[in-house]
Amino acid sequence: SGSGLPLMVQRTLAKQVSLIERIGKGRYGEVWRGSWYADSVAVKIFFSRDEASWRRETEIYSTVLLRHDNILAYIGSDMTSRNSCTQLWLITHFHPLGSLYEHLSRTTLTRNQMMLICLSIVNGLLHLHTDIHGTQGKPAIAHRDIKSKNILVKVNGECCIADLGLAVTRRHVAAGVLRDARQGTKRYMSPEVLDQSMNLQCFESYRRCDIYALALVLWETCRRVSPAREQRPPYHDLAPADPSFDEMRKIVCVDNERPDPPDDPHPTMVGMANLMRECWHQNPSVRLPALRIKKTLLKLAANDNS
Ligand code: ADE
Repeated sequence: SGSGLPLMVQRTLAKQVSLIERIGKGRYGEVWRGSWYADSVAVKIFFSRDEASWRRETEIYSTVLLRHDNILAYIGSDMTSRNSCTQLWLITHFHPLGSLYEHLSRTTLTRNQMMLICLSIVNGLLHLHTDIHGTQGKPAIAHRDIKSKNILVKVNGECCIADLGLAVTRRHVAAGVLRDARQGTKRYMSPEVLDQSMNLQCFESYRRCDIYALALVLWETCRRVSPAREQRPPYHDLAPADPSFDEMRKIVCVDNERPDPPDDPHPTMVGMANLMRECWHQNPSVRLPALRIKKTLLKLAANDNS
């Protein structure tokens, strides 16, 4: 029973959900808003060619008790057969504001709103990255596809991290079940992934890749603080839409380019600019761990008297 629910419960989950409207579509498949009894839910429908991502996400959610305000909450998974075609569903909480990417395209932010977004993302990533021992414990998990489209905005202004289809634990890394078939998003790939110098045997390397991608998300978010600039993806001025691996390698590894950090002289924004530089550093071993980033953000927030 993949979802950790008793098999009978799991098998009927999809039948209890009605799909209401499609809210997203991409290379992964589709996301629908659905209803499950009184609740709105999100249903991610995977293309069957991406069964590995559905399996990984289902495995992580069902073997690890992943309940955290800043990680998308899981309801269940379902595999059903419709006219001899396998349908793979992942059912989660629904967040009407959608992804951070969509949110930033609609709105500009106050510094306080920006800080809540950044702190909550880091809080979610810290929880993922941390080994917790004991009965309510969890292994450390690296996400491997951190980007603004994989982060959802909640109505309270905090965010939660979604899409664990590429996530790995120390055990996956040790077992060498490395799926380089589907890697992360090229635009967000760290220099060591792009120049293939990363130590694939070492779990810590995967956490450091998440920190690099996080820095790009912090940059995207800070750009929208009033007086905001237009929403742009990282490397918008250097990379084409859907860049190739080699195009990104040239930009990030050969030319050693990074986005322009915010130039707002406010101490909070100067602090954010310094934080990004430390997190997207060429040398993965000097990037800050999530706990250090959280402490830095808390200090910046406490000192910001608007
Ligand atoms: N887009 C992708 N997943 C979503 C979710 N859980 N809620 C709202 N929009 C989404």
